[in-house]
Parts: sequence; structure tokens; C-alpha cells
Amino acid sequence: MKLLVRERQKTSKSFINRSILSYNIPHGTISEQYRTIRNNIQYASNGQKVKSLLITSPSEGEGKSTALVNLAICMAQRGDRVLIIDANFRNATIHKIFNVQLAPGLSNILGKQLEIREAIYNTEVEGLDILPSGQRLYNSTEMLNSAIMNMVMEYAVEQYDMILLDCPPVLGVPDTNALVDKCDGVLLLLHTGKTGKEQALEAKRALLFAKANILGVILNNKKSV
Ligand SMILES: Nc1ncnc2c1ncn2[C@@H]1O[C@H](COP(=O)(O)OP(=O)(O)OP(=O)(O)O)[C@@H](O)[C@H]1O
Ligand SMILES: [Mg+2]
Repeated sequence: MKLLVRERQKTSKSFINRSILSYNIPHGTISEQYRTIRNNIQYASNGQKVKSLLITSPSEGEGKSTALVNLAICMAQRGDRVLIIDANFRNATIHKIFNVQLAPGLSNILGKQLEIREAIYNTEVEGLDILPSGQRLYNSTEMLNSAIMNMVMEYAVEQYDMILLDCPPVLGVPDTNALVDKCDGVLLLLHTGKTGKEQALEAKRALLFAKANILGVILNNKKSV
């Protein structure tokens, strides 16, 4: 089986939500913190090149997508070619942040209705492209575990310097663990005001059980903003 790649037919460019601080206030404290996280990722990997990263957290609404987009922008600002893949079929968010349509996207590629380049958008951030999730898949875990998902990742790794996967919470949803072995590293996000200690430990256990290479933890705290 071969994943066909055709020239992009879309010329659309997306426009990023004004609340994304690393883009809109690049010299602020928060942007500085994201740049620190970006730099630490390489240090945390013991000299191994990290080309694909997955971000998850124990539960819903802890700030995964927000952190991922900010991090992706900091990477693109450094000169990397970056692709964000929205792999959260339960609560797809990336298309909202970049003001593009939900579909077509990853689910259409996995369903073989579309070739990968046809669903990728350029964004107004130089070097940053996005692949929205597409419509919700009811067999999402199987589809994310499939050979075609491996091909999507192979294609992305060839074309980009960094691939960031936006995932659902790791607890209670099997989709994230289906993707863990397709990525070089995993970032576990914890919300200081929301995530309980037990949930944090349980999330770590679940990721390690799936053989995740946890590179580090991002602490998010809405109160500090
Ligand atoms: N540090 C923060 N300060 C203020 N608001 C924040 C912060 N982090 C996230 N938010 C807001 O919280 C909401 C949820 O964030 P986000 O969508 O990033 O969470 P999520 O973990 O990706 O959720 P889901 O589990 O549904 O995918 C959004 O409205 C986002 O703007
Ligand atoms: Mg999210």
C-alpha cells in the first residue's frame, strides 16, 4: 500500500486566533517560557533527534491544544518547518485556533478519501502548516493504529522538521496511547489548578505502559496569566 501525494490544490492560508500569545506578544513572559520549553525538548532527549512529539494530559480542558500551538509557533519562529496534526477527534480545536474548516482533514486521509497534501493548510506563521482533524471517527483508535497512519507520519517526517500531535486526554480515551509509539517523544501537560496528584500519576503510568518516551511535563496554570 502506498500513500499517494499530490500537489496541494488548496491555496488557502489560515489566520491565527488573536489569543495565541507566542504569536501576538512574542516578547512577553509567556512566549519566553514557551521558548524555554522548546529548547529543553532537545536537551531532554539525550542527544536523540526529536522530530515528532505528542502532547497529552490526564483530563479534558487542561490546556493541551493551547500549549501545543504556542510551542509550534516558537519552533517555526526558530526556522523549523512544523506540522501540527489534530488527532483529537473528540474535541478538535486546531481548526478553530487557525480559523479553517474542520474537514477535510486527518479522518479523510485515514478513510482514503483524500491524499495528505490536499488536507494541509499553510498558516500565516511562516513555516507552520496544520492538518485539521476532519469529521469525528467512531473507530478512531483502530484508524490511528493503522498502517495508513504510519504512512501519514512517515510522509510528515520527510517533509517537516517537527510534527506535533494534538491528542485527547490519556485517561479514559485509548486514542492517545495508539499514537504514542509513532512519536519520538511525549509531553505530559498538567494544570496546576485542575489536575489532581493521583490523575497525574495515573497518566504517567498509562503512558509508560504504552512505552511512551516522556520527555517532560508542562505545567499550565490559568491563574498565573
Ligand atoms: N494558561 C492559560 N490561561 C488562560 N486560559 C487558558 C490557559 N490554558 C488554556 N486556556 C484556555 O482553556 C480552554 C481549554 O484549553 P485547551 O483547548 O487548550 O485545552 P485542552 O486540554 O486542549 O482541551 P481538550 O481536552 O478538550 O482537548 C481554552 O479556552 C483555552 O484558551
Ligand atoms: Mg485540545
